[in-house]
Order: sequence, then structure tokens, then C-alpha cells
Amino acid sequence: MITRRDYLKQASLAGCCLAVSGMRMFAAEPDADISGKGSLKEHGQKRGIMAGCAVGARQLHDEAFQRLIAEQYDLVVSENSMKFGPLSPKPGEYNWTDADALVDFAEKHKMKVRGHNFVWHSQLPVWFKTTANKDNAKKIMVDHINTVAGHFKGKIQSWDVVNEAIKVDDDMPDGLRKSPWYELIGPEYLDIAYHTARKADPKAKLTYNEYGIENDSEDDSKKRAATLALLKRFKQNGTPIDALGIQSHIHASTGETYGKGMRELISGAQDLGLEVYLTEFDVNDDGVAEDDPAARDRAVAAVYTDYLNIALENKAVKAVLTWGVSDKDTWLNGMREHGKKHPNRRERPLPFDNDLKPVAPFYALRDAFDKAPHR
Ligand code: XIL
Repeated sequence: MITRRDYLKQASLAGCCLAVSGMRMFAAEPDADISGKGSLKEHGQKRGIMAGCAVGARQLHDEAFQRLIAEQYDLVVSENSMKFGPLSPKPGEYNWTDADALVDFAEKHKMKVRGHNFVWHSQLPVWFKTTANKDNAKKIMVDHINTVAGHFKGKIQSWDVVNEAIKVDDDMPDGLRKSPWYELIGPEYLDIAYHTARKADPKAKLTYNEYGIENDSEDDSKKRAATLALLKRFKQNGTPIDALGIQSHIHASTGETYGKGMRELISGAQDLGLEVYLTEFDVNDDGVAEDDPAARDRAVAAVYTDYLNIALENKAVKAVLTWGVSDKDTWLNGMREHGKKHPNRRERPLPFDNDLKPVAPFYALRDAFDKAPHR
């Protein structure tokens, strides 16, 4: 396996050759035409892998953006507008405008839709804190799942029923996160949520979505073990679960390595009969020393290649979604203040640049589809 450090060494060597020979670093030449047979979705479809992206509500008003995603992807997920907080301004009230717009767009362009998410500790409605208590929390959760799953019934490929329920450092039994749901309902909130979702939309695959579970570090190993144990308990208890979502928010040039841990995670999920989706893939490039955008794109693309080749070698992985489309709109730009090495630099984590032009990560993603075995 190539570590990031090795890659950067190679990249700077290759950079010299590049200047001399004018050759590209990556196997695939950038096609003049990335549409039709050159698109991400066509390359994915050849292998039985869905190519997806998260879409922000504002972006969907931009026609160039609309054209690009209809051309490139066959799966979309709403970046925010299906979350509890953004959906529900007041108890029992729902504003469907943004979520419906994405589902309508997807239907029109024959794209599938992932639902994200029903139960999470974050982006809860403002009213939740003052309204939810131990007596009503279960009803709030069940009503919410029934309302949202019911509203989109039959239109969702998979629902992230619970998002990020594990946090080993919280020191709770089974590594569960001390989320408001855990505190108000108890650990059974998980099983209740999945049973409710299955009943409300029997056709949607039910996913458990988590981050920080796939690299080779000790922290990820612990969280991976807790996640696989949770999925195993679901299976043993008859709790309906169909897929594991690996968020895949990863970093370039920080020394993270992917190999043994990722293989263990994916085959662990596969052994339980689950599908696996890479649900929120992006590569944070804050750690890349070079400022030159092309050099940063190459470093990010190398991480795409490294990570995706390992993940996609297992046929259980049926979808890759990037968290956003273009660097212009990545959520990572909003995280500038949190101890970044390059606080004034905009991130370049995604397949398309600020002008919606494909960059090296696009070709790395497409190549990774090509390299994957057929599903
Ligand atoms: C992020 C969105 O991208 C941001 O726009 C929002 O401000 C915060 O949430 N894990 C998840 C996603 O499951 O829902 C998060 O999305 C990113 C991390």
C-alpha cells in the first residue's frame, strides 16, 4: 500500500518528469469529453456501482450545476434539507420545499435518492432542547420518522436511519455516544428507530452511517469494533438493517493509512449480509504543504486512488457519493477556524473545481470505478 508520505515523494519526483515530458501523473488522460460514456455514472454503472453526490439546496438553483449533476451522477443525497432541524421549524410542523425540490429533480433525471438522516445528535430543531424530555422523546423520534419516511415513501433508495451513534470516548456501554436520544430514550432508541423506518417505508434500504471507522489508527480501530458490534447486535435482535454507510471524510498528508482496517470493516459488514456505501467522501487537503492548486489536486487525487481502490475491491461496496460536487461549495470551507494549517486557503476536496471543471480527483474517481471488479 502507498502511504501519503510515499505518494508525496513520488509526486514531487514525477512533478519533475512532468515538466520535462508534459505527461500526466494519472493513468487516465483527461478526456476532452466527460459526458455520456465518459461520465462518472457510466463508469460506475459498468461495474454496478452508483455514483452519487450531496447537493446543497442553494446549488440546485444554478443551471450549470444542474446540468453537471444530471450528466455525472445517478444518485443524490440532500446535504442538509432532510435533517430534522432544517425540516422542522416547530414541533409537528414540516417545511418540505428544499427536500421536495431535490427529489423532484432526481425523478426528472432518473437519479436515485438517499435520505439523510432521521436520528442524529446534531442539527436538531431549535425547539428540541426545550421541548424534548424523557417522557416524550420516544414519541418525538417515532413521529418524526413516520412523518418523513411517509412523505417520501417509495422514492428513497436508502435512508440513514441513525447517524453517528458511536463515540467510544463518551465511556458509555457498547461505545455508544451520549447523544440526546441516548440520554432521553436509552440505548433502545436505535432498535426502535430501525423498526419504525422499516414499517414506514419498506422499500428503502436502511443504513447505519458513521465516520472515523476505517483507517489503521487505534482510535478508528476501537470505533470500528464498536460499530461492527452494533451491527451484529442489530442482526441478532432482528433489528432491520441493510447497509453500512462509511462517511469517508478523510485527509491528505496527515499520515492516515488505509488498508487492513478498511478491509476488516467492509468484510465485517459483508459477513453480516450488509451492503456498504461510501456516503460522504471528500479529502481535506489542509495538510498539503504546496500551495499550487494543481499540486494539491494531485495530492488529493492520490488519496482518492489509494482509498477507493481498497474500498472498491470488495463487491459489497455498491455506491460512492462525494460530499458535494465542486470545491466552491464544500462544507470544509466553513470549518476554516478549527485549527487549520492553512486557514486562508480554500479547500480542494472534490472532483470539480470552483468553475465546475473536472480536476485530478475526478479522473482518480473514474479510474477507481474502472479498476473495481464487477458487482
Ligand atoms: C454537514 C453539512 O455539509 C454542512 O453544510 C452543515 O453545516 C453541517 O453538516 N457528517 C454528516 C453530514 O453526516 O450530515 C455533515 O454535513 C458532515 C459530517
